[in-house]
Amino acid sequence: MRATLLPGESSLGVMGGGQLGRMFVHAAQSLGFRTVVLDPDTDSPAGLVAHQHIRADYLDPNGLNQLAQQCAAITTEFENVPAEALEQLAQTRFVAPAGASVAICQDRAAEKAHFAASAVACAPYAVITTEADLLAVGDDLLPGILKTATMGYDGKGQVRVRSRSDLAAAWAELKQVRCVLEQMLPLALEISVISARSDRGDIVQFPVQQNLHIDGILAVTQVPAPDVSQELQAQALASAARIAASMNYVGVLCVEFFVLQDGRLIVNEMAPRPHNSGHYTMNACDLSQFDLQVRAMAGLPLTQPRLHSPTVMLNLLGDLWFMEQAPTAAGTQPAPRGGAALLGGGPAQGAAPGVERTPAWDQVLALPGTHLHLYGKANARPGRKMGHLNITAGTPEQAESTARRAAALLGLSIAW
Ligand SMILES: Nc1ncnc2c1ncn2[C@@H]1O[C@H](COP(=O)(O)OP(=O)(O)O)[C@@H](O)[C@H]1O
Ligand SMILES: [Mg+2]
Repeated sequence: MRATLLPGESSLGVMGGGQLGRMFVHAAQSLGFRTVVLDPDTDSPAGLVAHQHIRADYLDPNGLNQLAQQCAAITTEFENVPAEALEQLAQTRFVAPAGASVAICQDRAAEKAHFAASAVACAPYAVITTEADLLAVGDDLLPGILKTATMGYDGKGQVRVRSRSDLAAAWAELKQVRCVLEQMLPLALEISVISARSDRGDIVQFPVQQNLHIDGILAVTQVPAPDVSQELQAQALASAARIAASMNYVGVLCVEFFVLQDGRLIVNEMAPRPHNSGHYTMNACDLSQFDLQVRAMAGLPLTQPRLHSPTVMLNLLGDLWFMEQAPTAAGTQPAPRGGAALLGGGPAQGAAPGVERTPAWDQVLALPGTHLHLYGKANARPGRKMGHLNITAGTPEQAESTARRAAALLGLSIAW
């Protein structure tokens, strides 16, 4: 068994310098660990706050050597870190999660095979590698969603298809890379579970969170999950624990699920790291997902986190910086059209940005229980994750009503 890394005398490293790395660095530093980030970008959110920033490509042997020399344990903040890099680091250092676990999460086909091996139901699917696979697809998978097997995120790399001709066109659009075709399921809602597992096999879990996505990007997380029965929550927690244990996972793992209109629970995908839908834990729980990531890496005890406040998390995308005019008062936004939508004076996602402004943080922070987290990104862009706002309260109703006021002040109108 490896020695525990004690706060105040060890260094921890992270591959990747995005916001997840930054929040990991903050948690590690508050426990007294020295922190090192490897990321090629000079202005990365985590690189700006770590004790040391190694500016190197993820496969640069010198950069990886430096990281290994500096740190007793290393983690990753994104799943597309090259598996070879983690394997090189693991030759001399403790790496969690292991390259083999990350490799499963990087590939939708491997991920689905792992779900089946863990006895957790996922959507009916087919792996498409060749033209013959495309032709052999069963009628039951249409309508469906064609997803690239690797590198997809935030709804990118996927196309919805209704017919076989759609399917052929979609595969051409995705450059005929290896894909997974999934049956389109009738969703009632989406939930996720954050688990942390140690190298001794101990596992602790946060309560189930309910998530609302808009245009493929997470917009709102609510905890406790308002529309999910206790029974289904217990099933989601048990399924996530099996998925983690059956790959001997070490670290923080997020598993996303669909709840279907007939009430069935179906696993969607997973991420080998803390997750956007777990950001509520920073203010809602006595330990955050990043605290548990640090503990799992260091071999420190994982204790069961306790939810102390009902919470709503609002994601803050770059769109908010490009409102044509600041909204004047809460509750004056137009009603959303056609279900969940981001409204206000800002352009649609991907539209040419207008004049940049700073959102009215002072007004939002005047509301009780608001916790603003900005990631230190210099340039706002529509669709870019700039920060999040956690709203804690004594009851779920209070958290939701304050969240609605905060959303209105920001010009962020969300139908949820
Ligand atoms: N099989 C499916 N049936 C219905 N909706 C789906 C299906 N797969 C994905 N979606 C919708 O698309 C969103 C993004 O898909 P997901 O596989 O989670 O990709 P990403 O890696 O971009 O998050 C999901 O959150 C869900 O709303
Ligand atoms: Mg997803």
